[in-house]
Amino acid sequence: MKGIILAAGKGTRLHPITLPVCKPLLPVYDKPLIYYSVATLMLAGIRDILIIIPPDENKAFENLLGDGSKYGVSIRYKEQKVQRGIADAFIVGEDFIGDDSVCLALGDNIFYGPAFRGKLREAVKGLTHGATIFGYYVSDPRPFGVVEFDDSGMAISIEEKPANPKSNYIVPGLYFYDNRVISIAKGIQPSARGELEITSVNNEYLSQEQLHVITLGKEYSWFDAGTADSLYNAAGEIRSAQRSGKMIGCLEEIAVHNRWITVDQLEEAANALKQTQYGKYLIGVLNDLKDEV
Ligand code: G1P
Repeated sequence: MKGIILAAGKGTRLHPITLPVCKPLLPVYDKPLIYYSVATLMLAGIRDILIIIPPDENKAFENLLGDGSKYGVSIRYKEQKVQRGIADAFIVGEDFIGDDSVCLALGDNIFYGPAFRGKLREAVKGLTHGATIFGYYVSDPRPFGVVEFDDSGMAISIEEKPANPKSNYIVPGLYFYDNRVISIAKGIQPSARGELEITSVNNEYLSQEQLHVITLGKEYSWFDAGTADSLYNAAGEIRSAQRSGKMIGCLEEIAVHNRWITVDQLEEAANALKQTQYGKYLIGVLNDLKDEV
């Protein structure tokens, strides 16, 4: 399975913060926003990643993440010249996806929770054909895609930003599709706001009875970070969650856990950052690993 991160939003809702720095590179507490989406794909076991970025930002992304080898993954970048909506990711990423299935993670969505790795692996393994998405309960679902279930828990409708939502379950920005998603994305019409909506793609799978929705309970945390308030709240959430001593979105830790990098590579990364809080955490991970041996 391939992984795409859509991180092409310039972040106009965050001006003036995003005039010099694009949204995916903004900090969320102790690391850039994009780290959390890369972490999600890595937790799902996906090693082949395309990040769709805004024009002229290649260098900044490469400075941060490089070609991914320091995390034991392959990361490529592709610019999205014109913003045409989320489903455009499958058109921009068509050559990258090839004949494979694909997971799309939005670059401004953050997930964590106990056994999230297991939940993701379940989604990847279960995807032989069709689509798998998530449902997450929120108090105000109106700004999101909203999924409605029947009494047996089957999804029966999905609406994008409904004024009168039929449920409190939103569809967060993490989607798993079979290869047909490319042709489905090419076939949908732009919405009233002029975008190729991911909700239109999901509705196509729903109409073919090939949409599987996994609900994420309250033990999981999800938030998007597209506005000043949500970015601020996200930073606070990450900070308090990390008080337990476990970092969220630490790419080197996930990589070594997945056995995608060696303990020596982890040591190198830890030493390079040892003056920082992030580097000190890596040293802790390293010492724990050495204790296990
Ligand atoms: C997008 C999707 C929406 C989804 C949300 C998650 O909304 O269109 O279905 O629930 O991401 O963050 P947008 O970011 O375009 O407002």
